[in-house]
Amino acid sequence: MSKKFSIIVKKKLKDFNQTLSVDKDKSITHRAFFLASQCQGISSIDGLESEDTFETINCLRNLGVRILKKKNKYFVFGNGIGSLRKFKNTIYCGNSGTTARFFLGLLSTYQFSIKITGDASLSKRPMGRVIKYINKIGAEIVEAKNKFNLPLVIQGTNYPLAQQHILDVPSAQVKTAILLSALGTLGTTEIVENFDTRDHTEILLKYLGAPIGIKKIGNKKIISLKGHHEMQSFDINVPSDPSNACFFIVQTLCMQKSKIKLKNVCINYFRTGFIDILNKMGAKIKIFNKRKIQGEYVADILVKSKKLKNISVPKSIIPRTIDELPVLFIICALSKGKAKFNGIAELRIKESDRIAAMEKGLNVIGIKTKSTRDTLTIYGNPKIKFQKKISVSTNLDHRIAMSFFILGQVLGNYMTIKGFESVNSSFPNFLKLQKKLGAKYEIKK
Ligand code: S3P
Repeated sequence: MSKKFSIIVKKKLKDFNQTLSVDKDKSITHRAFFLASQCQGISSIDGLESEDTFETINCLRNLGVRILKKKNKYFVFGNGIGSLRKFKNTIYCGNSGTTARFFLGLLSTYQFSIKITGDASLSKRPMGRVIKYINKIGAEIVEAKNKFNLPLVIQGTNYPLAQQHILDVPSAQVKTAILLSALGTLGTTEIVENFDTRDHTEILLKYLGAPIGIKKIGNKKIISLKGHHEMQSFDINVPSDPSNACFFIVQTLCMQKSKIKLKNVCINYFRTGFIDILNKMGAKIKIFNKRKIQGEYVADILVKSKKLKNISVPKSIIPRTIDELPVLFIICALSKGKAKFNGIAELRIKESDRIAAMEKGLNVIGIKTKSTRDTLTIYGNPKIKFQKKISVSTNLDHRIAMSFFILGQVLGNYMTIKGFESVNSSFPNFLKLQKKLGAKYEIKK
């Protein structure tokens, strides 16, 4: 874990005109490591290097997977499906929900018991949403805090039962956990999905030639995967993370006369709901140079400053923009009119309760908000002026830290953001890129 530090913002950022590449995609990087460990041969991954992805790498190493690093690439020595070994009694997933949930899925078809642990934030997050499906195939949780939280001990089965699973939460992590369990399950596993969640796992499995089928029936998707099919190693160059790009897009929009070009960003449909929302608010974000790399759409994005108008955001788009909501709340606070976000209850169980954390910080600077369990209304004020010194806590939540940093840069008031080291879980180069834009801040250790 990185050492704790706070950031103090005192000055308003001046207008800029820049071209940047933000850090690589976290979701795709996790998936690349997990799948490479189940392939035959040496895969090379040029992906995100952050605390969350290091947790995945360390856990895989503790399960006997050889992973070497040369320059900026990782080489994963895969021995195929069923090849993990128990070298330690415990694997530690840090702050990474993706790592913990994917391992629950993957380890459910391994005939050994192992303890899975995480940091304070991860230990509060619900694992029951994955456990219920792996129980169905025959794996057991022999010990767990409050029945469904980390730390827990999983006992996998070597006789997993292939069956149909109906997803009842909009979660790509749960979907992927089931797909990882399906790799080691004889027969065909089926997943019925009624939500629009990210499909990076399906894309990568298809790219690897796995026997995966996807059928659309109305709003429903039926994903089927035949287990015990050996996959060969692969090379992947992961594009930039749209969730990282979003901070810079919002920041540029909130300035007076700035412009930014973000290169090589993953523009997967299930990740870019925020672009649709911002364009509906009047942003005119341009996507160009679109191409397909290893099954994923990638493009460059051009944004110019623009005054926006708040809208009501429907529930249906939320799974396509779940991680960008905190920073969207920032731009809504600074835009004209009333913004309402519907169907956002999932935000309460992320690295922190993101609705509560964002409301708290916005209320301190004088922005009015109203919330229920699954909605948030923000009364925007483009003329907000704030003089008092304020302090925001990030509760081990990287996206809360970066969202308030953007607010601080745009308003220029004295703002202390505590626990800024959490940013290293997804976007270690965030401050370096902010410096490139001309951001002024102080680091307090
Ligand atoms: C992720 C899925 C989302 C997202 C998380 C990464 C993934 O979580 O919030 O940051 O890589 O599959 P849920 O699946 O729980 O919505």
